Amino acid sequence: TKSSVDNAAEERERLVSTLPMREGFWKPYVLYRGFWVSPQVAKSVMLLQDEFKPRADDIILAACPKSGTTWLKALAFTLVNRSRHAVAGDADGHPLLTNSPHDLVPFIEKPDRELYPVAELEALASPRLLATHMPFTLLPASISAVGCRVVYISREPKDVLVSLWHYLNSVSKDYFIKLEKAFELFSEGGSYFGPVWDHYLGYWKQSIAEPDRVLFLKYEEMMANPVKHVKTLAEFLGVPFTVDEVDARAVEQVVDLCSFQKLKNLPVNSSGTSNLAGWMPMEKSSYFRNGTVGDWANHLTQEMAHKLDGIVQEKLKGSGLAF
Ligand code: A3P
Repeated sequence: TKSSVDNAAEERERLVSTLPMREGFWKPYVLYRGFWVSPQVAKSVMLLQDEFKPRADDIILAACPKSGTTWLKALAFTLVNRSRHAVAGDADGHPLLTNSPHDLVPFIEKPDRELYPVAELEALASPRLLATHMPFTLLPASISAVGCRVVYISREPKDVLVSLWHYLNSVSKDYFIKLEKAFELFSEGGSYFGPVWDHYLGYWKQSIAEPDRVLFLKYEEMMANPVKHVKTLAEFLGVPFTVDEVDARAVEQVVDLCSFQKLKNLPVNSSGTSNLAGWMPMEKSSYFRNGTVGDWANHLTQEMAHKLDGIVQEKLKGSGLAF
């Protein structure tokens, strides 16, 4: 006789096989409750909805791929752990100097989570810092029910597209994707966890409905004034900077430790691979490209930019969100 675990896995398999499918990056994608993901990730998301046990003090870091996930992981980890791991001076011995931000803050969904069900996450000590690319509406309902805080980082969509295109071509030389193809999928909403505008809107609306529980950040604003936003993030995470810390320039020290230049040049982030997606080793350096605002202008034609701007403006119209 089959166990209930097998039955649940079979049911997820069956559900995924009923979903609409289209061409994706590398693999075909399925449309699961309004968002395009690989069939493996759809199953992982379903598994989490069934089995993930949130704790009230969990902090969820969320982002569309290529919107600044790595940076947000580094910042949140550093802020939450700064009483244990000093940032002052040269931050000697700080975990960020010898670990990728992705190794310090795991993603909860994983293409291979089916093989390693949520037990891996259960083993982590509280308070847990967890990351996700899931849109708000796909988060396990239990996350909202227990009141976990959620931090979302968004980014100007043209820069997300250009970052994504470079990333897709840097992690593996075996799967070259033309910019025109990436543009097409992205602007049709068919990129991984797309449509990107619906991803933004889900968290945006929730941040308005529950400002104390959902913080919505923008990459460009953080780049323009990191000190201000890192202070806001620290307050939101329940670890505000003290007056003494501010006087001792602790905010600037966190900003510097997590800066693009600092992290990019560390050996742990500039060489070797990690199997983040579970099915393909990826170059660690591909998470740190050039970390600037407006790089789209060096890659997209005026026509592409105009078209994507038009789509995004139309989709975000009336929401109060703009880029
Ligand atoms: P670019 O490709 O434009 O350089 P994600 O972390 O969501 O995968 O996003 C990756 C993007 O964030 C890349 O953008 C990467 O260079 C940039 N990035 C990574 N670390 C950063 C940091 N510490 N500060 C600013 N940007 C960072």
